[in-house]
Amino acid sequence: MTNSPSSSAHAVPTAPGRVPLLGHIPSVLRHSPVATLRSLQAYGDIVALHLGPATVYVVNSPDLIHRMLVTEADNYRKGRLFTRSADMVGNGIANSDGEFHHRQRRLILPAFHRTRMRAYGDVMRGQTEAISDAWQPGTVLPLEKEMNRLTARVTAKTLFTSELGDRAVAEVQETVPIMTKEAMRRVMVPDVINRLPTPGNRRFFAAIARIRKVLDEVISAYEEQGVDHGDLLSVLLRARDEETGEGMTHVQVRDELVTLLAAGTEATGTALSWLFYEITRHPEVEERLLAELEAVLADRPVTFDDLPKLEYAARVVDETLRLRTPGWMSMRRTRADVELGGVHIPAGTELIYSPHAVHHNPQHYPDAERFDPDRWLSAPADRRTFISFGAGKHKCVGDHFARTMMLIVLATIVRKRRLTTVPGYKLREVAAINLRPKTLPMTVEARAE
Ligand code: HEM
Repeated sequence: MTNSPSSSAHAVPTAPGRVPLLGHIPSVLRHSPVATLRSLQAYGDIVALHLGPATVYVVNSPDLIHRMLVTEADNYRKGRLFTRSADMVGNGIANSDGEFHHRQRRLILPAFHRTRMRAYGDVMRGQTEAISDAWQPGTVLPLEKEMNRLTARVTAKTLFTSELGDRAVAEVQETVPIMTKEAMRRVMVPDVINRLPTPGNRRFFAAIARIRKVLDEVISAYEEQGVDHGDLLSVLLRARDEETGEGMTHVQVRDELVTLLAAGTEATGTALSWLFYEITRHPEVEERLLAELEAVLADRPVTFDDLPKLEYAARVVDETLRLRTPGWMSMRRTRADVELGGVHIPAGTELIYSPHAVHHNPQHYPDAERFDPDRWLSAPADRRTFISFGAGKHKCVGDHFARTMMLIVLATIVRKRRLTTVPGYKLREVAAINLRPKTLPMTVEARAE
């Protein structure tokens, strides 16, 4: 392999496997990290970036990403994106590795089993109705905030259905946005800055203290009652390791709750904002959705059992998750020296993969920039090109949950309310933990009965 340094981001694309070393990328990254990652797809299967003294590798090809996340996953641990989130999520599954992670995942996954989704589906519809029924026709809503409010409530209400959790639901709505807003900035700066008493750091730590306090109270109340409320928290408290019979400690349960809230609410809220944004831009998609909902549901509210029949709605959700995937990048770190795509990478090196960049590559998705739900009439030739939820042993535990929520929210709202972007609206994207619209003001109209 030739590591001939080229000094700009405009180096000529190399053959797959060659690694151009691009100088001075940080300034490009600061300005448009998402566009940069997209453009790097043209530079080869794996690309090295010099970020100050460190070399970071961007893994571009679905094949190498699959090797890193799935077939050779034992060579990698979670990268800086996660280790830097430890102040927030402690040792929750998004941040842990190895045998401990494996055990925690085994304990948590039953809470997301398909059989539980029917009950969660009712919570999802109830909360969607409660929020959207209050939208007055003729008003302009900050849709991105409304969707995050909705997903925070749904996630919190499925975590703790008992009234013991009601105060926690309110705290979750307020604190999760503060934590996720600060989280990406904390990844980018030297850690010493994260310890300074700046207003941002103070807000961040105060939000964590608040959410931990309220979750501690809810967990203690559940432990005292010892009743199975049929919710996610009950599953976590009752989970026992098959081999050792051990359950989770109080602190571990709390870390997992913060993890699920932080990982789940904004990502799904963002995906829903994008969903309504795309629908409003594509009236023909909206019409077909309404026709399908009319045919399947008539005027009945949607339930979990209806979802397999909502085939077009499912394609709209999939296409949103492709074109507008919230998790635009993630990271890994090599445990030992590894070889990936013909490149020798030393132990302790950070690697980036970008679901967004893969999804926008026309080699994998013809006419990739076009929102076209019907491209999902057939599965992609290579399934490894769809990585909205990652892959392998750290694949999103909330993927069915998120898809179910997106379908139920869509089927509930679109029949009652028509949402349109305000005149002159210009989309500005923010690449924080999730790639989201900075604002999404939308006018609400009542749908004719
Ligand atoms: C549209 C919504 C969502 C998207 C796009 C999304 C995306 C992702 C991605 C890409 C990963 C893997 C990151 C990596 O490999 O580095 C992940 C992991 C994870 N997600 Fe999601 N997610 C969504 C919703 C949810 C929900 C609703 C929950 C829970 C309520 C959740 C909980 C988690 C957790 C706990 C992990 C870490 C899993 C592990 O490391 O074992 N996510 N998610």
